Order: sequence, then C-alpha cells, then structure tokens
Amino acid sequence: MNVSRDGDSRSAPIGRIRKAPENFVTPDLRAEISSAGLDSERRGFLRRSFLAAAAALAAGPSLARAAESDPMILQPRPWSTKLGNPVASSPYGQPSSFESNLQRRQSPGLTPTPQASVAFAPLQGFFGIITPSGLHFERHHQGWVDVDPEQHRLMINGMVKEAKVYTMDDLMRLPSVSRMHFIECGANTGMEWGNAAVPTVQYTHGMLSCCEFTGVPLKTLLDDCGADLKNAKFVLAEGNDGSSMTRTISMEAALDDVIVAWGMNGEMLRPENGYPLRLVVPGVQGVSWVKWLRRIEVGDQPWNTKDETSHYVDMMPDGIHRQYTSIQEAKSVITTPSGGQALMGKGFYNVSGLAWSGRGKIKQVDVSFDGGSNWKTARLETPVLDKCLTRFNIDWVWDGSPVILQSRATDSTGFVQPRYRQLREVRGTRSTYHNNAIQSWQVDESGEVFNVQMD
Ligand code: MTE
Repeated sequence: MNVSRDGDSRSAPIGRIRKAPENFVTPDLRAEISSAGLDSERRGFLRRSFLAAAAALAAGPSLARAAESDPMILQPRPWSTKLGNPVASSPYGQPSSFESNLQRRQSPGLTPTPQASVAFAPLQGFFGIITPSGLHFERHHQGWVDVDPEQHRLMINGMVKEAKVYTMDDLMRLPSVSRMHFIECGANTGMEWGNAAVPTVQYTHGMLSCCEFTGVPLKTLLDDCGADLKNAKFVLAEGNDGSSMTRTISMEAALDDVIVAWGMNGEMLRPENGYPLRLVVPGVQGVSWVKWLRRIEVGDQPWNTKDETSHYVDMMPDGIHRQYTSIQEAKSVITTPSGGQALMGKGFYNVSGLAWSGRGKIKQVDVSFDGGSNWKTARLETPVLDKCLTRFNIDWVWDGSPVILQSRATDSTGFVQPRYRQLREVRGTRSTYHNNAIQSWQVDESGEVFNVQMD
C-alpha cells in the first residue's frame, strides 16, 4: 500500500492516499482545530489510557498501577480538603470547566452569513449514542428563533374532513411516544465529495446527532382531522421561522413513524432545535425535520417548494438533478482515534465509532486497520435501534507503523456502506449531498491522525 498523502485525487489508483488540500483550511482554522480537535486534556486522557493499557499488558490482568508511584492517590487533592459548592449554585447544570473545549463549531468561511449556516457537533468527544442537547448540531436557513409557546399554533389543513388548529396545550394532552433516532443533514460529509477536505471528524461528520424525542405521532393528528387517506399521498410540513422552510413528506412515512415532537432528551426542545415543536422524520435527511413547525398540509402530489428544488437535490453524472432522495443510507465513522487526534505511543487502543442507517437497524460494522485489505467485525454496543445511532468498539494494538483506519457499516436490509470509488461510479463527483462513503483516517508513525481519502 502506498502511504504517501500527496497525489491527484482523480488519477490515484486504489490504495493511494490523498492529502487534505491546504486551501480549505485557513491558518486560523488550523490553529483553532489543533487546539480544539485534541486539547491537552484529551491528549492527557489518551496518554493515561495508553499507560494504563501498557501496565495491564506488562502486569497481567490488573489495570492498577503501584500506589507508591502516584502522588495523585497518595496525597490529598485540594478538593478533598475543603467545603464544596452549595447545592443549586448552578440551577441548570453545566459541564465541568475541564470540558470547556468540547463545543459546537462553525467552519469559518463555509457560509457567507452566520444565520444561514451550520454548527458542527463534536463527535470526537461523545460516548455512547446520545447527543447532549447543548452539543446537538445546528443548521438554520435564516437563523434560530425563540418562539413563545403560548402564541405557537399548529394547523392541519388540505385534504382533511376538518382543518384544525392546535395549541401546545392541546398537543401535549394527546397520547405521546418517546423514541431514540438519529438526525443527519443531507449535506453531512458534503465537503468531502471532491477530496479529503477538512481535518477533524467534527467537520467531516458533525452534522449528525441522536436524541430521545417525545411527541405525538403525526398519524394521531391526521386521524383527528379526518385526512383523506384514500387519495392523499403526501404531507407538506412548514416552519415558522423567517425561512418558511417547507418540505414534502410521503404519506407512507407520515403514517409510519413521524412524530410531532416537543421533547428532546427528557426536556423541552432547545430553541436552536425547534422549540416548542418540530417534526421528527426518522431515517430521512435533516431538512425534512421541520423546526418551529406551524402547519401540515395534506395533498395528493409533491409541492416542489423552493427548499426541495434548489437544495438537497443530487447532481448526477449526466448533469440532471435527482430529487426527493431523502433516506440517509447506511454509514459509519470512527470517532476515536480520528483526524486531529494523536496516539501517544504503541500499544492497546479501544477504537470506537458510530454507525447508522435510515432504512433500519445496523447489523454489522467491520473495521480495517490496513486501508481496506482486511476487515474485522467490531462489537455493537446495545441498544441497537431502528434509525438510531449504534456505537461500535473494537480492540486494537498499534505497533507504531503507519496505518489507515476505516469502518464499514451493513444495515438490516443487507446494504453495505460503499467505498468512494463505488459511490462515484453511480453518483459522479458533482454532488453536495448524501455522501455515505467509507471514511479513512491515516495514523502516521508519530501517532498523529489525518483525514485522507482512499478510492
Ligand atoms: N426547519 C426550519 N423551520 N428552518 C430551518 O432552517 N433547517 C433544516 C431542518 N429544519 C431548518 C429546519 C435542516 S437543513 C436541518 S439539517 C435540520 O433542521 C437541522 O436541525 P438542527 O438544527 O436541530 O440540528
């Protein structure tokens, strides 16, 4: 395998690696990312993990170090010899000050205005599958709004027996469900279509989050209004922000698992994520999860609104745009170790990542440590749920030589996540949306991890 990171993307043979181009990553961004992608805390964490594992390998089954060598356990720490803070001094709990580097981040220069923009979730710092509410990614077309729930209304109209308007109180009296689902923007990994463009997993895959959502099934409301289910084929969802976001959704999905949600991770939605009401459309690209939801219209054909003709359509190799390709297909990514991080030495590592599919459950994740020549099956951590993130882990002992790490998801329909070459054969190279290709991370001899692309 050729491990040079130089080379032209289009002529590179299989197994050749491409370097992230310098032009996307400004010096400022590089400085920000090197301090944010792997701060001293996280480096320390990796170093400690390595030391613990090395000790384990040397000393047999026990992970413990000899107590006499570590003053941190022998001598009292400042916090063990004084009174702590009073209860409720932080009435709404905040993360530890030692974790302040874990933030949603914008990609400088990606969008002309901060309102029509995106803030990426720091996937490299997450455990398990739930995204903390304050770190959920944000994607707005016209900025976020803080809607007064007393003034908020949801109207259901169109092909219904009786058009109705609901208050939040009306909705929250109805029978509710709570379900865990991922949301992924159709543009996630969009910058990587041409080449390995950005340095960290936060920027390659961070338009992705996963929460427990609570609300009333859309079917309940359609039944309540007497939707004409014989003739109606679609619903249109409309938001209440300045962008008037409108998306057509198939009636099949609407009657299946779509939720009109007010809850996220056990509390009301955050304003950035649609407070007080958003649509949850499991498995479908994020744009259809209309925030600040104000209206559902029932109809017999798609609406072709501005948000479904100029955006979120796929430019195919023949130059024709493909429309309404909404399902987010099987995809996975290794989050630790990932771009911008560094391994602190040879030895044991727990390689960890996320896998998901808009068509069902994750059945298997395979991991390669040699750029795709050989694959090993990873452990899937429970729960493994429908249209939800699945956490995978696999043991690895790094021998100090350069390697390429990859993960490949297979979902319950048997669909296997494609390599870049396979994706481009069908889709060409002019798309922005729906990139679910296998992600490669190169580990150099120094232990530094880089975003690279393999065909
Ligand atoms: N709904 C409204 N009303 N306005 C918007 O700008 N953005 C959409 C969707 N719903 C948007 C919206 C897009 S493109 C995505 S990817 C998701 O919301 C992002 O949801 P989040 O900000 O909660 O992550």
